[in-house]
Amino acid sequence: MTEISKAKRDGFSSKFGVIAAAAGSAIGLGNIWKFPYIAGENGGGAFLIIYLVFIVLIGLPVMMSEFIIGRKAQQNVFGAFRSLSKTGFWRIIGVMGVLAAFFILSFYGTVAGWTIEYIYLAISDSFAGKDATEITTMFSDFSTSTFKPLALQLIFMGITAFIVLRGIKKGIEKYTKILMPLLLLIIIYLDITALSLDGGMDGLKFLFQPDFSKITPKCIIDALGHSFFTLSLGMGVLVTYASYFKSDINLTKTSINVAAADTIIALLAGIAIFPVVFAFNTEPGVGPGLVFVSLPNIFELIPGGYIFSIFFFLLLALAALTSSISILEVVVAYLSEETKMSRKKATLLSALAISITGALATLSMGVLSDFKIFDKNIFDIFDYLASNVLLPLGGMLISLFVGWVLKRSIIEDELSNYGTNKIVSIKIFIFLVRYLAPISILIVFLHGVGIIKL
Ligand code: TRP
Repeated sequence: MTEISKAKRDGFSSKFGVIAAAAGSAIGLGNIWKFPYIAGENGGGAFLIIYLVFIVLIGLPVMMSEFIIGRKAQQNVFGAFRSLSKTGFWRIIGVMGVLAAFFILSFYGTVAGWTIEYIYLAISDSFAGKDATEITTMFSDFSTSTFKPLALQLIFMGITAFIVLRGIKKGIEKYTKILMPLLLLIIIYLDITALSLDGGMDGLKFLFQPDFSKITPKCIIDALGHSFFTLSLGMGVLVTYASYFKSDINLTKTSINVAAADTIIALLAGIAIFPVVFAFNTEPGVGPGLVFVSLPNIFELIPGGYIFSIFFFLLLALAALTSSISILEVVVAYLSEETKMSRKKATLLSALAISITGALATLSMGVLSDFKIFDKNIFDIFDYLASNVLLPLGGMLISLFVGWVLKRSIIEDELSNYGTNKIVSIKIFIFLVRYLAPISILIVFLHGVGIIKL
């Protein structure tokens, strides 16, 4: 055990703080930026259904598994698997997690940098008087340029590192508690406006009416990868957060609350974005720029649009921040608890290293856009490797660990808070983590990368 875990460990101070921080990690660019754009690329409704099934049948049990492991072990991911199992094998989850953290933060920082630019554009009232084409050009000119996106990404990484340095209570908990509910309110306001647009209903149809002919292997693996990405699963973020949970936190309820909040925000973001896309006759499958080229179109039309555009991008940047700190925390906890490095040094070093790989992702939108592997630029490769490969495999190993290795009594203790509340059904949970989750992940994965054909 490390010194920190023996002495007084930092911890969350309230139940609401726990949910807010876990939800703060889960809710981020994944919901508002990524979900709409990959749903758009994969045909909308059909993707949505598969994604929802994965959230319930795979995401929830894996999230509960991470919580069980983290709260039992009271340590970072590496220490957790070391103390809960005799074999060194499971440490591979930690290794893959650190790798995934690198990939994710690299492209996450790029997009977070874009949100900072959009805060500035909103403040300077730059969307006013522009039509849909001009708004699209504004985004592509900016995102393919070199200096500004890089500088903004660096600023974002700097802020992330600063908060991680300040620790749990003063850093993570304090900010997420107020900001997440505010974001929800703004999105609901955007929804109402978007739905009242002429032609907006076509957007809703696109999102909610499934066209099953659009289901391809890519669609299925994208849905699986995104269900992990959006819930922050598969790399130990929630193991780490759960290690700060007190003994009265109900792990099942917390998982359901976090998954529900995360899904609702993603759906509300979709309901705000697709009606705008269809009302303004733009393309739902434009890729990573979707939220930046769609929403600016409606700020002009709504009462208070100027103020709301500022708040929207500000909160989007902050939602990105509460997620990125959870990702950086994995790398920092690893370096500082597993090597002799101080927390400060670990934070600065990892933030710096990630800024360098992140620069590659940013530049792959512009000067490095010709560099492609399998028709994917660096940005997409990082996303694919992390979301569609490392996270599902990590999630598979985590559920196998809880299903087959961890003692049944530990699972029962953690899920029942040491006998103080009833467990809904331990049998269903065990079935999900032993068989259903790992086997479906494996099948989707092998199918998605083309090794098997169904
Ligand atoms: N879930 C976050 C989002 O949707 C991103 C994120 C935070 C994440 N921590 C993670 C993704 C851990 C995978 C693993 O924006």
